[in-house]
Parts: sequence; C-alpha cells; structure tokens
Amino acid sequence: MLYVKNLEKSYQTGNKSYPVLKGIDLAVAQQEFVAVMGPSGSGKSTLLNCISCYIPFENGTIRLGGQELKGLTEHELAKVRNEKLGFVFQDFMLLDGLTVRENILVPRIIQGIVSKEAETLADELLSLFGITHIADKYPAEISGGERQRTAVARSLINQPLMILADEPTGNLDSKSSLAVIEAFENAKKHLNATIFMVTHDSYAASFCDRVILLKDGKVYDTLEKQEDRSQFQDRLLAAIKKMSLEA
Ligand SMILES: Nc1ncnc2c1ncn2[C@@H]1O[C@H](COP(=O)(O)OP(=O)(O)O)[C@@H](O)[C@H]1O
Ligand SMILES: [Mg+2]
Repeated sequence: MLYVKNLEKSYQTGNKSYPVLKGIDLAVAQQEFVAVMGPSGSGKSTLLNCISCYIPFENGTIRLGGQELKGLTEHELAKVRNEKLGFVFQDFMLLDGLTVRENILVPRIIQGIVSKEAETLADELLSLFGITHIADKYPAEISGGERQRTAVARSLINQPLMILADEPTGNLDSKSSLAVIEAFENAKKHLNATIFMVTHDSYAASFCDRVILLKDGKVYDTLEKQEDRSQFQDRLLAAIKKMSLEA
C-alpha cells in the first residue's frame, strides 16, 4: 500500500541546510493500522507531510498503491491527495458553518458531486462511528471526541487507499481518545481501511498492529504487536525509554 525507501528531506534556512529525514525505509500493508512515535523534532510530521504530497523531498522513493510520487506535477499531487488519501488532524479542521453530516461530505462537495451513493456512505459512516444522533448538529455543539470521529468519517468518504493522521488524539481526553481509536479500528475491520498515525500517546499506539519508532530522522526500531494491548503498551514504553537513554 505504502512503500518508502531511503527518504531524505532537509529544510533550508538562509544558505544552510538542516537534514530532518536521513534515509527512512518503511512499508505499510493494506488494512494495517500503524503508528509512528518519536521525540519532538524527530521528523514525524515531516515524514507525514512528504507522504501527503504537501512538501517536496530531495532523495528516495515514496510509492502509494503502486504509484511513484516523485516526478508528479502539482496537479497530479493534488489528485493523489484528493482521491487516494484521507486526512485526520490534531485540531479536527471541521467547517463551523456545516453540520456533522455536511462536513463528512465536504471532500465530495469539493469534487462537485454528491451522489446518492456518497450520501449512503456518509450515513453508514455516521452509524459505524456511533454519531448518527448528532448528524444535524454543528461542530460547536458536539464534544471533541465527536468532532474527531466526524473527521475520521470525512477522511473515509472518498474511500482512500490510506488514512494519514497527525496526532489525532492530541487534543482529547482518554475517553474521547478511545472513541477515536475505536473509529479507526472499525474502519479497518469493516471498510478494510489502512491507517498511518503519528502519535506521542503510547495508549493510542498500543491499539496498533505495529509501531515504528523514529529518532533523529531515522527508523530506530519497529515493534509488532504480538501480545494483548496493555502488555504491548508496556513493551512500547520500555523501547521508548531505551531510545531516550541512547543519546
Ligand atoms: N517548515 C520548516 N522549516 C524549517 N524547519 C522545519 C520546518 N518544519 C519542521 N522543521 C524542523 O524539522 C525538525 C522536525 O520537525 P517535525 O517533522 O515537525 O518533527 P516532529 O513532528 O517529530 O515533532 C524540527 O527540528 C523542526 O524544527
Ligand atoms: Mg509533529
């Protein structure tokens, strides 16, 4: 589904170049729920933004559903973003003037077509994520967890190859975080969704199939869940502690 090989990205400040991603290799399979963790500044958002076609990168390969991103025009990249990817952000990014149901349909409105089929899918997503009862409410009238479940539903309305989420539980309490993680799990189980999530929250990450640890722009370690959730969280915390001690 996603294949990243030797990805390198630097930021230019004045005439200086600061390397941020220093040769990232990773792959995500269809219907996998993968988290990326790492200290602040380790390059997590930069990695996500490269995969999202938001920022250019110097070296390496990113392939999404078999399509190579390097060399695509701005127009082609916009098409990948709109048709192949779904996005979930820390601060929800819902439109205040639209209802929950309308927000879910926004990617279709942008494409200029809201088919009967899209409306049916929106209703299925509302039901799958337990937010049917708030379909006609506005973002200001619902909780943070409900807003983020709305955003997860919106990310799925175009039936993307993959959902990219940057700190989706970063603004939520633990109960709302759980509701959002369960939305991802349901999307995976019932819609074969693939989710790639950046998080600093070991609780959220412990629900994933696999966790990639990033340090100083490189993949430090990859942990696959083999045990139950709480044991996996303990193993994650131990690996993060070990990583932080290796200065
Ligand atoms: N647009 C930018 N211009 C220059 N430097 C940036 C830019 N975005 C991020 N950085 C720097 O790149 C490094 C990695 O940032 P980021 O990918 O946001 O890390 P993370 O999400 O893991 O906290 C940091 O040192 C950050 O200051
Ligand atoms: Mg970040």
